[in-house]
Amino acid sequence: MVAMGSSEAVLQVFCGAAPFIKSDLTYPLGSDIKYKKKGGSKAIRLFKCSSSYHQFPTIPTIQSERLKSRKFESYSCKCLNAESASGFTTKNENGTWFVDNAKEFNTIQETGHPPNLLGLEDDHKLKKENESSLSDAIEKEAWDLLRESIVQYCGSPVGTIAANDPTSSSVLNYDQVFIRDFIPSGIAFLLKGEYDIVRNFILHTLQLQSWEKTMDCHSPGQGLMPASFKVRTIPLEGDDTATEEVLDPDFGEAAIGRVAPVDSGLWWIILLRAYGKSSGDMSLLERIDVQTGIKMILKLCLADGFDMFPTLLVADGPCMIDRRMGIHGHPLEIQALFYSALMCAREMLPPEDGSADLIRALNNRLVALSFHLREYYWVDLKKLNEIYRYKTEEYSYDAVNKFNIYPDQIPPWLVEWMPNKGGYLIGNLQPAHMDFRFFSLGNFWSVVSSLVTVDQSNAILDLIEAKWADLVADMPFKICYPALEGQEWQIITGSDPKNTPWSYHNGGSWPTLLWQLTVACIKMDRPEIAARAVKIAEERLGQDKWPEYYDTKKGRFIGKQSRLFQTWTIAGYLVSKLLLADPTKAKILMTDEDSELVNAFSCMITSNPRKKRGPKSSQKTYIV
Ligand code: GLC
Repeated sequence: MVAMGSSEAVLQVFCGAAPFIKSDLTYPLGSDIKYKKKGGSKAIRLFKCSSSYHQFPTIPTIQSERLKSRKFESYSCKCLNAESASGFTTKNENGTWFVDNAKEFNTIQETGHPPNLLGLEDDHKLKKENESSLSDAIEKEAWDLLRESIVQYCGSPVGTIAANDPTSSSVLNYDQVFIRDFIPSGIAFLLKGEYDIVRNFILHTLQLQSWEKTMDCHSPGQGLMPASFKVRTIPLEGDDTATEEVLDPDFGEAAIGRVAPVDSGLWWIILLRAYGKSSGDMSLLERIDVQTGIKMILKLCLADGFDMFPTLLVADGPCMIDRRMGIHGHPLEIQALFYSALMCAREMLPPEDGSADLIRALNNRLVALSFHLREYYWVDLKKLNEIYRYKTEEYSYDAVNKFNIYPDQIPPWLVEWMPNKGGYLIGNLQPAHMDFRFFSLGNFWSVVSSLVTVDQSNAILDLIEAKWADLVADMPFKICYPALEGQEWQIITGSDPKNTPWSYHNGGSWPTLLWQLTVACIKMDRPEIAARAVKIAEERLGQDKWPEYYDTKKGRFIGKQSRLFQTWTIAGYLVSKLLLADPTKAKILMTDEDSELVNAFSCMITSNPRKKRGPKSSQKTYIV
């Protein structure tokens, strides 16, 4: 049996209410909302801008007229203009949280000395000026390109296309707005104070959420957000001379490999919170349709299944790595985004009666999830040695080797690779299986969301520094390390010619990952690490025409099938630059551990026979 020991499953009930952003709202009666999906034979239905015909979930009774009128505004694309965000104020988060800025770090990194210490002030000054004007020019080009990638729907900006590559002969779906790809674009716009595009994106993708899409007669779960959508212009029904714009979502039913985009809804929640924090426009978060959208995503993720673990069970390719790479099961990236989305939703859900069950389930899951990841996904030298000496086939509640991991699974590369100082979360955990590959995004986002402890967060950054030559080398950042090679590549990827060793998802280098690295480094007050990576990227990205990814062990070549002018490469770079220039702004993406969760977590640790980490102080109880 692989479940937690009985002592860990002490029955505990969470009583605390989630903090809500604004408490003076009236919410609809009842939370058990039924959603109506339009039936019919057509597999593909589209959102039309020119017509009032939209497939919305049935809207519950609304107490407040104010909310009621807002709800109807969302039915028309034109209303979004009327609800212009100009007038919103960005929260003033000035303070002592962070003092230095990236330019200073760049100088110190490069010379090994603080500026003007060698008596070569003029040389340094000149070099610094040249560098910063080059950097300014690259930044300006990036902004121009980002703006060129904006997609309009009914006259309003709703997103950015994945790539704007004029050299590419087959566009595939790179002309679509991908939910995950838009996140750095959206953050860049928020940081610039341009809120409308993010607001429109949030509302339009919300409309697509409950849309019925099928694959061979099977519909995905309600609450699933599409992987991407496209704005199409089609002839107006009954009028050959006119056209209309429609939004056409793809939930994976057209995607290569038909993979379900589990991460879309999680990113949507994270972006929604960032929008609220950045713009100060809480009215969007309070809207009944937005609240319903959050709950639908949560209900889908928190639904009971057959699984014994608190981690989210998914099929292969459910996230940034959206093709077969052996990440099915409980991949780290999904767990980190899941945790982050739960933390963000917790702040945005009102503690009204109708949501109490959902909030309780959410809190319980947060505690169980962080316990599980911190305990079982974590590896460092000490833990590796523990695994090396594991006994197997233990049948008992208090087994040390709960998942029956055979020590021979420790890959030879890791024995050499693991630094003395540092550690990381492994890629996946299943019965008798640990995927020891280092997946960057999952590790970065575990730091950003406080899924891991402060010590573990610092250890992850220590490992990145220690393994710089492997993880960054000539281009940040390796999507995963190491690559699958030989027979392993054949079996796990199905001999995928796009995912050959050290290419694309299989150990390729993705510059978009810079922004998540930057947020993680700022959170741990170590921005100089990110600044160093940005500097490396900056030397090539513009010249190389902003590639999607780089190939080879050191990231020396532009990827074999890499798109150029890839939007999230451009936006990721911009977000990193903006955050390093003003690190306080990164707070819109971070979540800190809540004291109630910490207490509950300590409780679990104390009741865990193997490890004692904290005081037995909590009066709060949880069901786990
Ligand atoms: C590739 C990537 C995916 C990305 C998409 C659009 O499929 O794997 O993460 O969203 O391209 O850029």
